[in-house]
Amino acid sequence: MLVVALKETAAGERRVALTPDVVRALAREGVEVAIEAGAGAAAGYPDADYEKAGARIEADAGALLAAADVAAVVQGDAEQVGRLREGAVLVGLLRPLDRPERARELASRRLTAFAMELMPRITRAQSMDALSSQANLAGYRAVLVAAAQIAKAFPMMVTAAGTISPVRVLVLGAGVAGLQAIATARRLGSIVEAYDVRPAVKEQVESLGARFVELELETEGAEDAGGYATAQSDDFLEKQRELLTQRVAAADVVVTTALVPGSRAPRLVEEEAVRAMKPGSVVVDLAAEQGGNCALSRPDETVDVDGVRILGPTNLASEVAFHASQMYAKNVANFLQHLITEGKLELDLDDEITSGALLAHAGEVSNERVRALLEGGG
Ligand code: NAI
Repeated sequence: MLVVALKETAAGERRVALTPDVVRALAREGVEVAIEAGAGAAAGYPDADYEKAGARIEADAGALLAAADVAAVVQGDAEQVGRLREGAVLVGLLRPLDRPERARELASRRLTAFAMELMPRITRAQSMDALSSQANLAGYRAVLVAAAQIAKAFPMMVTAAGTISPVRVLVLGAGVAGLQAIATARRLGSIVEAYDVRPAVKEQVESLGARFVELELETEGAEDAGGYATAQSDDFLEKQRELLTQRVAAADVVVTTALVPGSRAPRLVEEEAVRAMKPGSVVVDLAAEQGGNCALSRPDETVDVDGVRILGPTNLASEVAFHASQMYAKNVANFLQHLITEGKLELDLDDEITSGALLAHAGEVSNERVRALLEGGG
């Protein structure tokens, strides 16, 4: 069985889907691995390291794709996918819920596609959870981006030239990215506050040394069975924004990470709140691509409003490409190992992990939510 990894083509994408470490692990399963020449270079993994790990390096991506049983990608692209043979398996971050039409295309090409984003969030699949591994690094990086932008030092410093007071950071959304943003901001010595609609995270926020912002809001039913936030009503969100304005105004840095899977990101910071911030303050909105938690953020742009900068980076994990690839490749390899029995792919469609991540198979879009989106009912 041949597993291949390709050089990513999306703008700004530096990650790679397989690293030399996982090549070794897959080789132990009796799997042959081939890597497009230069695929890992931008993430810090030279071809020579893959070769040492037992992979074949191939300059011709077309030949690689035509021969592949399994193609592992980060984002992949339509042109690459178009060159896979019928029945081949594609594994990647395929953005099933925001680009459902891609699933239809994959199905019509009769590929078996697994979207890492659809991985069920169950204990057994934790080592395959790419959303978490990448969000964790994005949360870390968001704080560094803010620290590099702001003209203030994060920690308190008592010096002969006077005392510097610590920066105040507000983190909105304390899921995987938010918790790592809190931890990073704390490590840099700032004072951190955080808010999440799920009251269950209060303890986690506090255990990281941050203050949990409690709003006088009814949050019953804010969490679904999978641990995700549920979409809130317009009235709720309006009240939330109103109550948060004061906390936003007091912060030097606001990092927003709030998402509701499959929905537009909840709007948490209105223009009015941004205008109440001190000049020089920074907002980093990790939800910019999903519509933004901040009314003013634009994907991959920096917006300046009277000296307050609002950044909307959409691929921060790629800026930590070495470790993001290391973790993502591990997630992918663990998933492949789950599918492989005695060196062969065995798809057990009754298995919760296999069927959960399945996006397209045998000419059909396999995931119910994606199908509903395609039919306009999602
Ligand atoms: P996410 O990326 O979908 O959302 C980020 C955060 O935004 C969440 O904490 C959510 O509660 C929050 N949020 C949504 N709407 C909001 C609003 N209106 N105001 C404030 N905050 C809002 O979620 P993520 O980070 O991917 O995971 C969320 C949770 O899922 C984790 O904290 C954990 O409990 C659970 N999880 C379970 C896993 C497992 O069991 N294998 C793996 C990963 C996460």
